[in-house]
Amino acid sequence: MASLKGRRALVTGAAGGIGQAIVARLKTEGVIVAGTDRQPCATDFSFDGDLMKAEFCDALPGRAFEAMGGLDIVINNAGIITRGPVTAASDEDYQRTMAINVEAPFRLCRAAIPIMTAAGGGAIVNTSSCWGVHPGPNHPLYVMSKAAVASLTQCLGMDHAHQNIRVNAVCPNEVNTPMIRTGFTQRGLDPDTAVKQLNASVPLGRIAEPEDIADVVVFLASDQARYICGSLIEVNGGKQVQ
Ligand SMILES: NC(=O)c1ccc[n+]([C@@H]2O[C@H](COP(=O)([O-])OP(=O)(O)OC[C@H]3O[C@@H](n4cnc5c(N)ncnc54)[C@H](O)[C@@H]3O)[C@@H](O)[C@H]2O)c1
Repeated sequence: MASLKGRRALVTGAAGGIGQAIVARLKTEGVIVAGTDRQPCATDFSFDGDLMKAEFCDALPGRAFEAMGGLDIVINNAGIITRGPVTAASDEDYQRTMAINVEAPFRLCRAAIPIMTAAGGGAIVNTSSCWGVHPGPNHPLYVMSKAAVASLTQCLGMDHAHQNIRVNAVCPNEVNTPMIRTGFTQRGLDPDTAVKQLNASVPLGRIAEPEDIADVVVFLASDQARYICGSLIEVNGGKQVQ
């Protein structure tokens, strides 16, 4: 996509399963990338830190802008999954889930929008989930956090379109990353066998690979998606939430 060459992107969760695929795809398109995660990222600029820290989030878009000489794209990809019924959820589970999945995107959007506005516009891609749009069983904290991201996306898409800032969200169903594989391991299942079984539940015949999601994220960040604003794009291989 010619439109992306030389643009400057900040990607959270850049060392994770989907994050690494997003970074690789952006690099292929000639984008300058600042990555952030709890460990160093294989990006042009790396800001390792904890998204649970408010001051870290508040400062990140400005630091990325300074480092790259601009900020055209923000990809709020980092997230955690908290499993189990509400009766098993601790205060810490609630605070951690909301801090990483909701408060961090809120803080990053709030800090990035004035920077992008001053430069004439930009694109923000948030990561919700099919489960944030269609609730599934036994993950209430995760589902409500992803519903909040979906709502934040729709609101900001409306409120900042006039500043030429497009805010959209990708909503994956199951993706073959450490997030889903560690869940199988915790339940005593072999992740490869469990993924094969899960593949059979998807109309397209397999759960998503990180690249399937990264392609949609990069499309939404590009000028090819210039008329898409405030949208929640489900990427699910035809599988509904069960
Ligand atoms: N894997 C799936 O099935 C699936 C489905 C729907 C949505 N998603 C969403 O996609 C996004 C990426 O998930 P993934 O599957 O690549 O997971 P992942 O666990 O592989 O990657 C998530 C990354 O976020 C980082 N992160 C988590 N907490 C952080 C914190 N406090 N500070 C800084 N970084 C932190 C992790 O270090 C990790 O690198 C998440 O928002 C997730 O909710 C994933």
